[in-house]
Amino acid sequence: MPEIKRIGVLTGGGDAPGLNPAIKGLVYRASDYGIDVVGVYDGWRGLLDPLAEALTLDRESVRRWDRDGGTNLGSSRTNPFKSRNEEGEQVDRSAEVITNIEALSLDAIVVCGGEDTLGVAAKLSEKGVAVVGVPKTIDKDLAGTDYTLGFDTALRNVTEIIERSRTSAGSHGWVQVIEVMGRHAGHLALWSGVAGGAHLILIPEHPFRYEKIYHHLRERLGDTRARVRDRSRPRYSVIVVAEGAHAEGGELVTVDDRHDAFGHARLGGIGEILARRIKSETPYDARSVSLGHPQRGGTPSPIDRIMGMMFGARAAEAVAAREFGKMVSARGVAPACKLSLVEITTVLGKINMVNVAHHYDTERYHMKEIGM
Ligand code: F6P
Repeated sequence: MPEIKRIGVLTGGGDAPGLNPAIKGLVYRASDYGIDVVGVYDGWRGLLDPLAEALTLDRESVRRWDRDGGTNLGSSRTNPFKSRNEEGEQVDRSAEVITNIEALSLDAIVVCGGEDTLGVAAKLSEKGVAVVGVPKTIDKDLAGTDYTLGFDTALRNVTEIIERSRTSAGSHGWVQVIEVMGRHAGHLALWSGVAGGAHLILIPEHPFRYEKIYHHLRERLGDTRARVRDRSRPRYSVIVVAEGAHAEGGELVTVDDRHDAFGHARLGGIGEILARRIKSETPYDARSVSLGHPQRGGTPSPIDRIMGMMFGARAAEAVAAREFGKMVSARGVAPACKLSLVEITTVLGKINMVNVAHHYDTERYHMKEIGM
């Protein structure tokens, strides 16, 4: 068996806090095995460009990376299996990726990403490329693992904003709708909503009914316009809605009709629609805010630093043991969880969603375990 001497690492899809700590963990543990690591820029795009230069990573150059948010290697949503050629046609360019991996003398590649980026890694693995996956997405919706890098930091960020939004909502007595990320899964909406004290939480897994929302608002806030002077009940309400949530019989709300190379439209706008409906159908004033990218911004939380370095180190061990075609997986609650390797194909065609029967109260639109 030829020895593993030099590997590449790339980060793809939406950036997430925890990626840089993962690269640090990878480089440190790889150096224990005498394996060199190079960083490939901008996800899969870095392996399609006519040999974009790769960055040599060593213990000294990544020493401070555990404190950095985003990804210092850059990212893209490039899909080599559906990528534009020079003539602008969408074609399968995966053979170029394989050629470039060889041209860079990489014995293996560690791929940090979500469903799409790891999906590409899984398909390349079937073509014989030596890959190891590291799971990341603030949505925490990847199959095969209980933790994905970025979730905890996003949870911290969103909780903080929900908390801050109460100041104005409470002072003015309005309904504050907060739209958070979460395309298929409502983990971030549900957890941040509970931690931030939201009154209603709407998730993609369970289509909501407008009438039910109005009913809950009336119950909390009372029915009359004089309610702002009624000190015996709350004056305001906070509703957290995941961007992928939709009304019963309604459609996903998208920013426009463009799709990325993986076929995803950019979601956004359900919060504003909901606020408008509340204003027109109830006596309450309502505002909406969509949190957008700042929710995954800033420095990684302690959990994402620890989990990132643990995931990276485990990936290096997998490479050294030639356990390819695998993804690092966590079982249990981070960071006191058990790490193992699962088949990287686990991520294909499956999503880890909120278990509605166990955790979501479909009457109260809240976490089942908590009485609001
Ligand atoms: O997949 C992670 C995610 O944060 C989703 O929740 C969201 O729909 C998407 O990325 C946003 O995509 P972009 O960062 O390309 O705007």
